[in-house]
Amino acid sequence: MWRLKMFLMQIVRALRKRQDNKKAVRIARHWIALVNSVPNRQEKVLLHIGCGDIDATGYINIDARPQPHIHIVSKSLFRLTEIPDNVADMIYMCHVLEHVSHREIVPTLREMHRILKAGGVLRISVPDFEKVIEIYNASGRDIGSIQGPLMGGQDYAFNYHYTAFNESHLRRSLEKSGFSQSLTWDPFNCEHHDFDDWASRNISWEGREFPISLNIEAVK
Ligand SMILES: C[S@@+](CC[C@H](N)C(=O)[O-])C[C@H]1O[C@@H](n2cnc3c(N)ncnc32)[C@H](O)[C@@H]1O
Repeated sequence: MWRLKMFLMQIVRALRKRQDNKKAVRIARHWIALVNSVPNRQEKVLLHIGCGDIDATGYINIDARPQPHIHIVSKSLFRLTEIPDNVADMIYMCHVLEHVSHREIVPTLREMHRILKAGGVLRISVPDFEKVIEIYNASGRDIGSIQGPLMGGQDYAFNYHYTAFNESHLRRSLEKSGFSQSLTWDPFNCEHHDFDDWASRNISWEGREFPISLNIEAVK
């Protein structure tokens, strides 16, 4: 199963280089999604949405920006039509949900709910607005200290923030989208997270380090 999936992914990558093969790319992606949906005792279906440069073992990588390791290029996170219902064991979204309009957060979370199997986990990390305020105050209310974590790096088209989160708002949004049992998760002590990303990174400001992330996971 894994070899078949890798073979299909190689086809997608090869076809993507050719402008005239958009339909074939769509079909190959559809097949990848179908292969991923077949129950497999050894393998869990793990989706990494907004993975950026990270190519973590065992994940299907999804991002708005095409790169060789990205299996599905998509920027409409509330409409991932390539992916069938009830297929994923886990969806991981680290520092990507804040790049979605606050009007589209619940539709996006509902889309993740559609894709997850019953009992599947949606694992989220976002900048925590409470920590943004702590950084602002600790910096002597220097607005420069929070421009990045609040507004996004703004160094490429998909690096702008549109939504602020605190714990109660994120938990409420998850509940509205059909999820239960939301809990905090620890990036240094959990399954399927043996790589470095924003979930465990700090904001550095004038030689000081500040944690920034709100890490919450919920069950379908
Ligand atoms: C701040 S980076 C986080 C990368 C990685 N998850 C990490 O924690 O290091 C945000 C990523 O989300 C992607 N992204 C932003 N908006 C997106 C959208 N609407 N659909 C898909 N990906 C998006 C960007 O291209 C970028 O790779």
